[in-house]
Amino acid sequence: MMPVSMVGRAGELAELDRAWSAVAAARRSAPAVAVLTGAAGVGKSLLVAAAVDAFAPRPALVLSGAARVHGPAPYDWLAAVLTGRDTSRLGLPSDALAWLAQQPTAPRERYAPGTLLRLAVRTVQLLVGAGPAVLVVDDLHALDPASVNLVGELATVADLPALLVVASRPPADAVAPDLTRRALARLSGVRGAVRQHLGPLRPAEVAEVLTQVYAGSTPSGRLVTSLWRCTGGNPYALTELLAAHASEGPEALLRRLPGPRPPRQPTAPRAPASAADAVVDVPLDPELTAREVEVLGCLVAGMSNKQVAKALGISVRTVTVHVSNLLRKTGSVSRTEVALWAVRHRLPVPAPVD
Ligand SMILES: Nc1ncnc2c1ncn2[C@@H]1O[C@H](COP(=O)(O)OP(=O)(O)OP(=O)(O)O)[C@@H](O)[C@H]1O
Ligand SMILES: [Mg+2]
Repeated sequence: MMPVSMVGRAGELAELDRAWSAVAAARRSAPAVAVLTGAAGVGKSLLVAAAVDAFAPRPALVLSGAARVHGPAPYDWLAAVLTGRDTSRLGLPSDALAWLAQQPTAPRERYAPGTLLRLAVRTVQLLVGAGPAVLVVDDLHALDPASVNLVGELATVADLPALLVVASRPPADAVAPDLTRRALARLSGVRGAVRQHLGPLRPAEVAEVLTQVYAGSTPSGRLVTSLWRCTGGNPYALTELLAAHASEGPEALLRRLPGPRPPRQPTAPRAPASAADAVVDVPLDPELTAREVEVLGCLVAGMSNKQVAKALGISVRTVTVHVSNLLRKTGSVSRTEVALWAVRHRLPVPAPVD
């Protein structure tokens, strides 16, 4: 399948472009901030990449970093930014730079945390120079605390002619929820900050994706609705499902998807009333407990751990245990992948929320 190009998000793109235009017109020397949040796979990274790609005038400099998979170290964002960059002319202590860049030759002796933070901010200021630049921080929710701190500092430093674009999953899904919550609040509180929370795709946008995949032919309403329901409009789940099965043709794809829900069988009353009530009672994979299936249904609906906890009347900590069991049992590396697994195995999914 050809890669699907981005659908929807026109308003978000335009807003980000306006923020960049203001920075590029040098109307301020303090950074402008744009904060994008949304569930896993909702399209944050794609939107940021598409927006930066379309910025006019072209940014002279884009400094971009994301949390790296292999055990984030302090200042991981900056280390990613510094990778392959010549820093010899910045006039900063080379041992500190080596440390910030996580070079293996870096001295073991560490600078005091406050000094390192100041050096990290200074490094970014020197790289940006007269700017204007774009700083991209993807996956704030997965970054090490030092990087999160640095990003917060950069947003409020006086002399940094740049647009700082930060993408994050909601704090409840973060490695350090409180830290992420505070950082997002600090970033969003910067004067004039752009704040976008991305929701799932709407049925019309799912139809647009299908039109791309099936080379311009109009998809049937039933296929659109079924796909929208079973992916919850999550673009990641949608594009993965299509990558795996679109080649079989629209009819075969439709047969693969769960049909309309059968009427619920009367069951013993269960308290509290929850999103799990929307889950159809059908035979389940023997390896999953009933509770895990309920949690799975919530994940398919794109809920955060906090929302799942509220819906099922259990603690967030218990939800995280269920989620990690689900990851293990399904061999998935992320909650989005688990949700996709559910779709592939035609497990019951919650009714869509209108
Ligand atoms: N608006 C969209 N139109 C079409 N495809 C999309 C759209 N948004 C995202 N996708 C596709 O969905 C997948 C997931 O998108 P992306 O990686 O941007 O999500 P994310 O929000 O950054 O997820 P994560 O929280 O895991 O970082 C990608 O394959 C992307 O191409
Ligand atoms: Mg992403």
